[in-house]
Amino acid sequence: AAAPPGAFVIFGGGGDLTKRLLMPAIYNLACNGLINEDFRIIVVDWAEMTDEGLIQQFRDFIGDFVSKRGTNATELRQDVWDRLTANISYLRGSFEEDSTYEALKEKVEARNAVFYLAVAAKFFGTIVDHLGTSGLAKEEDGVYRRVIIEKPFGSDLESARALNARLLHSLDESQIYRIDHYLGKETVQNIMALRFSNGIFEPLWNRQNIDHVQITAAETVGVEKRGRFYEGTGAIRDMVPNHLMQLLTMTAMEAPASFDADAVRDEKAKVLSVIQPVKLSNMVRGQYVSGSFGVGEEAEALRGYREEKDIALGSQTETYVAMKLAVDNWRWAGVPFYLRTGKRLRTRRTEIAIHFKQAPFALFRDTPVEKLTPNILVLHIQPTEGVTLQFSAKVPGPSVKLGGVRMKFDYAEWFNDGPTTGYETLIYDCLIGDQTLFQRADTIEGGWRVVQPALDAEASDTAPLCFYPAGLDGPREADELLARSGRRWLALER
Ligand code: BG6
Repeated sequence: AAAPPGAFVIFGGGGDLTKRLLMPAIYNLACNGLINEDFRIIVVDWAEMTDEGLIQQFRDFIGDFVSKRGTNATELRQDVWDRLTANISYLRGSFEEDSTYEALKEKVEARNAVFYLAVAAKFFGTIVDHLGTSGLAKEEDGVYRRVIIEKPFGSDLESARALNARLLHSLDESQIYRIDHYLGKETVQNIMALRFSNGIFEPLWNRQNIDHVQITAAETVGVEKRGRFYEGTGAIRDMVPNHLMQLLTMTAMEAPASFDADAVRDEKAKVLSVIQPVKLSNMVRGQYVSGSFGVGEEAEALRGYREEKDIALGSQTETYVAMKLAVDNWRWAGVPFYLRTGKRLRTRRTEIAIHFKQAPFALFRDTPVEKLTPNILVLHIQPTEGVTLQFSAKVPGPSVKLGGVRMKFDYAEWFNDGPTTGYETLIYDCLIGDQTLFQRADTIEGGWRVVQPALDAEASDTAPLCFYPAGLDGPREADELLARSGRRWLALER
């Protein structure tokens, strides 16, 4: 059903995020009849711009989006687009001045409102303070006021705590929607569906049957145009306490009592609270040096991180991190969770690989236990979405020989529909007041707590940095992290 009427206010709406993701997502929702007829979009930003100029900027992008991705149609639905854009307005103003919020109040009037903070993190606190003092954050007469906050939420445990405390001066926790776009991905939501709506997986989902878990988020992109942001951030802050922790908690959590927002988030908080803070000896930080995609004549040469724009010559920022974490509870005691993420790797691949224990003994004389194909259940998050299960089977022929085979479920093939940008679900959930897929204060802080020792070591220059050639598999030291216990990473290319 269509969400209730209201205003959608985007602070920093002149930026890339709005054009590339928010507008296409709102458009997709509108195509599915999920946006109310009375839906106003108000963009607040600093640049000089007219309503028409802004709409044109969105229009230029959406045409391309519709024809390429994220939607079934290949042509823009003009009626839907016209209805949406008839209600867009631009408000020029500084995020730091009262006058901006006075002007905004006049536009919002007594409507429901979502305030989307698509701004640099340093403005989060200021904007929310102003929403509080101006009265815009006040919910009265059945009207809701909600705030969506992008990442990065803090830059370590202490700053995340401070920001949470600051927000609570002006807002109630029920009004705060901390976004982690991984939670909008169909395949991430599917982790819960797979585990909790099937009978066959959950009985195996524990230390008796699982040897270890590998979580990978490999990217081929480098730092691109984000050098200034990335230099002060690095792979750990950018990916681990947020995106990778989401994947880990979804994999490791207990079944919630219900699918209520707080029941689900309680389980996530519980599992986060038993993840031991990372030990430096169980972590590898890497930075890419020059390399190439491919070899020979076709090879594409790649610059090293330190040669990229806005990066310091002797930069110590990591573009790759691998770590081994322990989840200390009854279900997972002794089962390592290995995480790795990096830029400029061989291939783009986000996945969770559950490595099951081997068969107990070698019944097949020619194939000793260690040569059996390991049973691995892989949840593929992107770029291809699906689930595969690897196991052993008899190779056809007169002698008994075993070989590895794979069973495969592919989203696009089965449903004949690709997953969306991810922002559709998140925006719609916020409009209808469902916080399940948003981070709560304690789950955010839980993620930071796990990586805090790494951040402390970085700050005191005691976290070693290793180097890896762009376009390959990451640092050798990351292989050694698993080799210590006789394990190996699943190959990035396979
Ligand atoms: C963002 C990070 O949050 O997630 C980026 O800031 C990263 O550095 C991106 O590239 C990865 O998202 P996705 O959806 O491409 O896996």
